[in-house]
Amino acid sequence: MFNTNFEREQLAETPSPRGEKLGDYLSHIRLLNQALSSETKSILQDLKERRIKHYQFRDIPVAEDVPPTPTEYIAGIPKATYQSEGIIGAVSLELGTLFNYRETSDSLMYDVYPVKAHENSRSFVNSRRMLSFHTDGSAHPLMSPTFVLLYCVRDDPEAANLFVDVDTLVSSLSPEVVDLLTQPLFNHLVRQFPQHYLLKPILYRVGENFSVKYDEDTTLGINPKAESARNLLNETLRKLAIEIENYPNSLLILNNSACIHARTSFTPRYDGRDRWIKCAFVTNQEITAGSIIGLQL
Ligand SMILES: [Fe+2]
Repeated sequence: MFNTNFEREQLAETPSPRGEKLGDYLSHIRLLNQALSSETKSILQDLKERRIKHYQFRDIPVAEDVPPTPTEYIAGIPKATYQSEGIIGAVSLELGTLFNYRETSDSLMYDVYPVKAHENSRSFVNSRRMLSFHTDGSAHPLMSPTFVLLYCVRDDPEAANLFVDVDTLVSSLSPEVVDLLTQPLFNHLVRQFPQHYLLKPILYRVGENFSVKYDEDTTLGINPKAESARNLLNETLRKLAIEIENYPNSLLILNNSACIHARTSFTPRYDGRDRWIKCAFVTNQEITAGSIIGLQL
């Protein structure tokens, strides 16, 4: 991933991307980005230009002490160094601009791990329940991430990411169903309290290709035909999904407009060694780096 002359000290010196250090962090990742190898940059270019829709880097040269995986949800788990955040930042610069949603976190990245009492919820902190098929930020009126970056701090062999390529999906559905899914016949839940929906399609034609915005838990067809198309979509997603395992110090990059993802159910142990994924969003839209955007309705 890095050139052989890469300075590990430079990675270990990555400032925290939280709070007042954010500006330092954004400067530092530009230095780290220069150390990426041409092979890594070429893979990232393939992702950016949609020649590939996902990629997993493995055996990333991160060597940092990480605290036990928490069991309660806390904002910003304290770490001695911010190496995994440095990797995410260095890679993000090849793809676009890092941002986050205020509703997800008050900092640039967020942590995904099983939280006690949320095992069967719909939230990303669930575990015993499958995390449903979705694209991130699918209902947001202004911006959805172009790429989702999932850095695995700790894995769980039982928990795999599920992935469906939108082009494979479209070619597996009948033209009639695709036609329904590209019409504004679906209510997407933007905000729960007070409830606010946006009426829009699930599939979008982009030249010869398709893009997708969907969350199976929070999108509903407005009439029986639309709901029947959505049910067929859900069935097809389950048939087509490929499993991607997570490994410690691996980074999975998904094209969030060209694929739909989910996660299998798993059993949390709450012993400090549970699965822990560090998640970041990247957009190809014009935005100030490090923006945390709030919902304005
Ligand atoms: Fe996601």
